[in-house]
Amino acid sequence: MAIIVDENKQLFTIHTKTSTYQMKVSEYGHLLHIYYGNKLEHMDLSYLVRGVNRGFSGTPYEAKEDRPYSLDTYPQEYSTYGVGDYRSTCLSVEHEDGSQALELIYESYQIYDGKYKLEGLPAVWAKETEAQTLEITLKDKATGVKVLLYYGVLEYLDVITRACKIYNGTSTPIYLNKALSCCVDFLQNKMDLLSFHGRHAMERVMQRKEIEHGKLSIGSIRGTSSHQQNPFVILCDNNAGETYGNCYGASFVYSGNFLAEAEVDQINHTRFVMGIHPEGFRYYLEPQEEFVTPEVVFVYSNSGLEQISLKYHDLYRNHLIRSKFVHERKPVLLNNWEATEFHFTEEKLVEIAKGGKEIGVELFVMDDGWFGKRDSDTSGLGDWFCNMEKLPSGVEGLAEKIHGLGMKFGIWIEPEMISEDSNLYRNHPEWCLKIPNRTPNVERYQLVLDMSRPDVREYLYDSISQILEIAKVDYVKWDMNRNLSDVWSQLLPANRQGEASHRYVLGVYELMERLITNYPNILWEGCSGGGGRFDAGILYYMPQIWCSDDTDAIERISIQYGTSFAYPISSIGSHVSVVPNQQTGRTTTLDTRATVAMSGTFGYEMDIRTLSEEEKERCRQHIEQFKMHYNVIQYGDYYRLTNPLTEEIAAWQFVDKEGKESFVSVVGLHVRANAPFNRILLRGLNPTSYYTIDNGEELYLGDCLMKAGMNLPILMGDYPSKNFYLKEVRKG
Ligand code: DGJ
Repeated sequence: MAIIVDENKQLFTIHTKTSTYQMKVSEYGHLLHIYYGNKLEHMDLSYLVRGVNRGFSGTPYEAKEDRPYSLDTYPQEYSTYGVGDYRSTCLSVEHEDGSQALELIYESYQIYDGKYKLEGLPAVWAKETEAQTLEITLKDKATGVKVLLYYGVLEYLDVITRACKIYNGTSTPIYLNKALSCCVDFLQNKMDLLSFHGRHAMERVMQRKEIEHGKLSIGSIRGTSSHQQNPFVILCDNNAGETYGNCYGASFVYSGNFLAEAEVDQINHTRFVMGIHPEGFRYYLEPQEEFVTPEVVFVYSNSGLEQISLKYHDLYRNHLIRSKFVHERKPVLLNNWEATEFHFTEEKLVEIAKGGKEIGVELFVMDDGWFGKRDSDTSGLGDWFCNMEKLPSGVEGLAEKIHGLGMKFGIWIEPEMISEDSNLYRNHPEWCLKIPNRTPNVERYQLVLDMSRPDVREYLYDSISQILEIAKVDYVKWDMNRNLSDVWSQLLPANRQGEASHRYVLGVYELMERLITNYPNILWEGCSGGGGRFDAGILYYMPQIWCSDDTDAIERISIQYGTSFAYPISSIGSHVSVVPNQQTGRTTTLDTRATVAMSGTFGYEMDIRTLSEEEKERCRQHIEQFKMHYNVIQYGDYYRLTNPLTEEIAAWQFVDKEGKESFVSVVGLHVRANAPFNRILLRGLNPTSYYTIDNGEELYLGDCLMKAGMNLPILMGDYPSKNFYLKEVRKG
């Protein structure tokens, strides 16, 4: 049993494979958080929670004779604003009389097999036999406001998911001014927070900071999860590394505004909270209405960051992504964006596709520019009908020609956007997010459609599905090229405008759900100016996401490194592009570009016809190599062998689940004269098995390769790369 309840003690314990999580109802009825960490024998751990009378940390009224008992110093399971917990809180409710307090008291619990579902929101899913759910209901002492805490437990993956439902059980309306998904109080300090920051074309750069007194707050108020901060963090021991230390991953399954905040409090305990960012958020609840928060997925590892990533990869491949393509071989693709941008004709696209066909590409994707009046980024968004000047035989005609080459065919769309210069805007200026009597902030000349409006979603569904009905489309890239601003929805009354951002995200999810359900055979790829919306929410709908608009192989190593901490390799869209690279001007070899792109979905983003015959032959070999190692790369375990942000060599490794095969990639980031020898310690092999390297004659014991290492050749040239294939040939 993963969930154990001791009703007498009002003690709730969750055990996963290597972790224990415990809560207890205090004698005053508050739900205290007792422990989250390395798995322990089952016992009441509440002796760990101690109180002492501390000045300026008050007690609830009933406890006034018990001065050590304070909501400000005791660990809380779901902290609330206004009743004496001065740390970061999860929930702030404004009642009809204007008061802003909530004191939650334990009411009841239930346990059931399987995992709870969150209506309209993406979430981890599991069969009845694979998960258990614990629901705990808390009720405000003075009003009828209730909070239902959800815990989804996937024991074998060390996963505990959390979400909650806030229910207005009073007879008057309330406002939620802040409604986060979870809180975890650790009775310790000396913890680091790893977060993943960035900017357009440089996403998910790993940053590690000690959590100290004062709030360490990361998040997004951009309406999307953003390039600037990813909704994923890891809390870990100060000394934790890839293979040692307690680590706690927290991944928000949501694609809009978010907050992840950690602080060390006055008595050196660490609080962590996560959820929808409260800035701009205000949710109105009529009596009997409820609000459901998005989910946070916690993963625990007692042996370092590597295990955090391995578990997330397995979890997201098997319990989040629903597309059939997560388990099918996805085609190697060629996208025309960097080759042509908006400037193409049907003839040109067919010629580019033929170039791809020559090297073994299986899917040709027509990017931005095929619809409405779209010769630049100044116009056309919203007009989802074919531009017949560019494509005289329609999208269907081009699709036929591409299929005639023996390739699959894909298109690009950006449903959430509208250009002022478009028929859609001329007909429906009220459909975009815009505040009356204000000029809106523009980005790339585009405005954002109000996705909370059912009529907008209906229009988008109809116009997009019309294309998908007439043309045989095998792949769709769903782009989103600006952040939200001037958030104001014409359909919402003034007191509900604080809901608009969240309703926008729900609207996007609803449209995605409808399209993917009705077109399950299409391979959908998420995108937001590269990786501006690379989050677990999108992965629920789409099995892969374009990782970054930066296609420079060397930059991509850091971006993909950061992305790998939470997201499976099979979800990371990565392509080989031209040199000098269009974003950095850097020249790298074709081999290095292929090595990096292969550690993802693998494709091309260039006009292959510009390559020499020799280079084309090399591309053919790369595609064959990728296909040969597809299963290991896409479904195997992924190990970061070095940190490319600080080291001169980038190295990473894929191993199949049985340790029979392994694919190791190495890129020299800084080649030196008279270079010292380098060796890397491999991971994930069977210690007692013997392996060959690149089918050579010599045999190497797995244990030796992991503990003593594998020799690397001396690397020469600009950003050289080398791949190694290890095969288990004899079991020990
Ligand atoms: C941003 C995407 O990330 C690119 O790959 C490309 O599709 C452009 N948008 C097209 O406008």
